[in-house]
This record gives sequence, C-alpha cells and structure tokens, in this order.
Amino acid sequence: MDPWRRDLVGFVKPYLPAVPARVLEVGCGDGWLCHVLADAGYAVRGIDPQAPEDPLLSRVGLEEFHHADAFDAVLVVLSLHHIRDLDRAVSKIADLLVPSGRIVVVEFAWDRFDDATALWCLKHLPSEPGEHNWLHALCVQLRERQLQGQPLQADALIHGWAADEGFHSSAEMTRALRRRFSNDAFEWAPLSVPEPADVTAEEERVAIHSQRIAATGLRFAGSLRG
Ligand SMILES: C[S@@+](CC[C@H](N)C(=O)[O-])C[C@H]1O[C@@H](n2cnc3c(N)ncnc32)[C@H](O)[C@@H]1O
Repeated sequence: MDPWRRDLVGFVKPYLPAVPARVLEVGCGDGWLCHVLADAGYAVRGIDPQAPEDPLLSRVGLEEFHHADAFDAVLVVLSLHHIRDLDRAVSKIADLLVPSGRIVVVEFAWDRFDDATALWCLKHLPSEPGEHNWLHALCVQLRERQLQGQPLQADALIHGWAADEGFHSSAEMTRALRRRFSNDAFEWAPLSVPEPADVTAEEERVAIHSQRIAATGLRFAGSLRG
C-alpha cells in the first residue's frame, strides 16, 4: 500500500464501528479501500458510477443508489466535492445510516492551495504523471509560468479550474456535513503528495505544521444528529 493510502487508512479506521459492521463507501473508484476494509472483517459495499466489475462494488451514483438495509458507517474519500447537489448528497448519506451511524470523510481542500504549496509540489513532482493527474496538470501550467518569470498565482489557477469543474469548497462541504452530523473529528491534513513521491505524508505534515505549505486535505468524522 502506498504511503498516502496507509496514512488515510490510519485516519479512517479508529472512527469506524467495530467489526463486523456494515460499511458503505461512496465514490469508491477502483475499490481499493473497500478491499482493505473487507480484509479487516467489515461487510463492505462500494458505489461509484465508474466502478469496475467487482463483487464488493456497484456501478451506481449515490443519487440512484437504494439499499434495503441501513449501514453502520459511510466513507467518502475525495468524491463529495464532485457530487453536484451537496446538501442532497449529505441527506441521502444520512438516510442510508442506522440511527447510531457514522460518517468518515477525506476530502480535497483545493481552496487552500497557494503559491508556497505549488512551489513545494513543483519541487517534489515526479517527471511522469501518476495517480495525482490533477496536480500534475496544474503544476505543468505553473512550471511554464515559473520558467517565463511570471507570478505563479496558483490560487487563481486552481480556483478557476475548480469553478469549471463545479467542485465544492472545503467550507461548503464542512457546512453541509455539520448540518447532519456531529463534529467528532476535524483536521486539515496532507494531500498534495504526488505519487510516486520522494516525500511521505509525514514529511508533508511537517511542512504544514511549520507553515511552509498549506494543508490541502480535509478530514472529518461525525455521528448522525438525532
Ligand atoms: C477522485 S476519485 C476518488 C476515488 C476513490 N475514492 C479513491 O480515493 O481512489 C472521485 C470518484 O468519485 C466518483 N463520483 C463522482 N460523482 C459521484 C456520485 N454522484 N456518486 C458516487 N460517486 C461519484 C467518481 O466516479 C470518482 O471515481
């Protein structure tokens, strides 16, 4: 497992109910986290309109997903900022949970990306694009600006990109989550580490804590409000 995923699993697991519990992952991608949790003893279902063929996964969006039995926990990793109607998405997640249900969210705080973070990413960026293609695409444009001696203005670039994509900001996501869930945990976290990286999430955390770069990850855990 790559260091970013290991770090993420380390955040998620303490907020999940004990096994055997029923866990839904919304926007599971290729289902890597579903498999980690299934191996740990959870009854897991992953949903994603782009899910591959896999017995643990269903190729469906949150909006169309229906399930007879409620889940004990819902996980959302880097998919909430994509889902158009944010309030409806959070309400749907709440409706899919048992009354004691929990949510664990790992998200992209793109609105915190600034020039210092961009320069740090440029320094650590692999020459070939990896899984973090969005970051690579962004940094290619920033590198052009750097070579031409132009101001980076990374925040303006990323705000424009996010607006084109219709991404929700960290403030919008946090507000929507807190409306339906108690705030059991909230942290700004590493996210920018490109893969394969010559830095670990821990090294990124050190750079964040010493205020050299911004934290571009958001982590939230909550319980359903009564
Ligand atoms: C950045 S990827 C993250 C994938 C995975 N969670 C991971 O961390 O590897 C975002 C995922 O959200 C999914 N997604 C977008 N809209 C969705 C929706 N309405 N319901 C469920 N998943 C959605 C996309 O198909 C995509 O796989």
